[in-house]
Amino acid sequence: MSAPEHPTTTTSGPEWAPDSWQALEAAQQVEYPDAGELRRVLEELRELPPLVTSWEVLALREQVAEAQRGERFLLQGGDCAESFAECTSPVITNRLKVLLQMSLTLVHGLQLPVVRIGRFAGQYAKPRSSPLETRDGVSLPSYRGDLVNAPAFTAAARAPDPQRLLQGHAHSSLTMNFVRALVDGGFADLHHPEYWDLSWVEHSPLANDFHRLAEGIGRSVRFMETISGQRAGNVRRVDFYTSHEALHLHYEQALTRQVPRQEGWFNLSTHFPWIGMRTTELDGAHVEYFRGIRNPIGIKVGPAMQEAHLQALLNVLNPGREHGRIVLIHRMGAAQIGSRLPALIRAAQDCESPVLWVCDPMHGNTETTGSGIKTRRFRNIMSEMEQAFDVHSANDSRLGGVHLELTGENVTECTGGARDLGEKDLERSYKSTVDPRLNYEQALELAMLIVRKYNQAFE
Ligand code: PEP
Ligand code: CO
Repeated sequence: MSAPEHPTTTTSGPEWAPDSWQALEAAQQVEYPDAGELRRVLEELRELPPLVTSWEVLALREQVAEAQRGERFLLQGGDCAESFAECTSPVITNRLKVLLQMSLTLVHGLQLPVVRIGRFAGQYAKPRSSPLETRDGVSLPSYRGDLVNAPAFTAAARAPDPQRLLQGHAHSSLTMNFVRALVDGGFADLHHPEYWDLSWVEHSPLANDFHRLAEGIGRSVRFMETISGQRAGNVRRVDFYTSHEALHLHYEQALTRQVPRQEGWFNLSTHFPWIGMRTTELDGAHVEYFRGIRNPIGIKVGPAMQEAHLQALLNVLNPGREHGRIVLIHRMGAAQIGSRLPALIRAAQDCESPVLWVCDPMHGNTETTGSGIKTRRFRNIMSEMEQAFDVHSANDSRLGGVHLELTGENVTECTGGARDLGEKDLERSYKSTVDPRLNYEQALELAMLIVRKYNQAFE
């Protein structure tokens, strides 16, 4: 088998190397007390096998290019922050179940193939708004994700530990291995959507809707098989890609590799790394690092981003105007999307740079309750999603995907949704160490809303 043809260069301008970012200011990095230990860990990491292959990365680029042409819809979802402790069979399978159910809902409702990307197998590093967290007069370093330190509020837990980089790689590969085995082994088989049932939602009204849809698809598959006399082979498996915020540049560098018979460099810690909102400085280390890798990349676009900044990012990160390279993930908040997004859409159009626009309706809608709990209202998430479709349509553009924080666990972290969770419910089952996630019902409800809205927008 030979790899498909792809443009081979992403860089232009000054010489790039996997470590050229080190000459620049790097936001959100970690001060390790023992530089020697960090160096030894990174040497070890550089020798370990990668988590993904260049073939898969290039195949995803093809899918992103198709989505840019309106031939696919992108679904990206998972935890805000994965944790080593939750690298367990039920957590991984439940998350996969939700993503599969959502993607089936989207494929069926939009009549389009879906690009499936998990925020998993490496989503272990978090940007923080403050380097310190203070509780009852005690200040400690903020929790920066399991790749760096631990969430407990003690000096020992919060001390950055380089060994965690190796543990992060190991947990990513355990997750990846299990996801691959599930997906390849028939877990995603359309003949058996009952494999994806989550026990805790047995009595949900949404579960009934979903079952009707899944049964309808199952009947169609069997009908096709009866007519053709053949088993529909490729409905047994689906493509699943991984993604994380490529924040910890030493870690990313150690997994940036060259491969035989391919030009350039690939980040092989994940298929789809993205640049977070806090690390998009043009002369910063993250943009420098991303400039030289051949992966498709995401860029978070917040309400403060100026049009000229976005255009400069597109120039630096995709000078060749290659298809399948850039995904712009806007995260404006329900209150700001209407006023901020149109100018940014026009700015990208003026650049004539192919981009895929994806809506993250989570991060602009975070708020803190009176009792200090971080939450998001489902109503605002839904509103941002609906407005996103409308704003793109009104500006001669197309919304091509959604980026969500969700889990298959029965958590109560976002308010509202099918069971109309209130502030009191947040105390019941709040597990996220960073941002509040949609639970299964809220996620599926959102998928159904996307189908309704998409079909209105493109009627
Ligand atoms: C995130 O996706 O968890 C995140 C921190 O997002 P943003 O960079 O958009 O704030
Ligand atoms: Co988050």
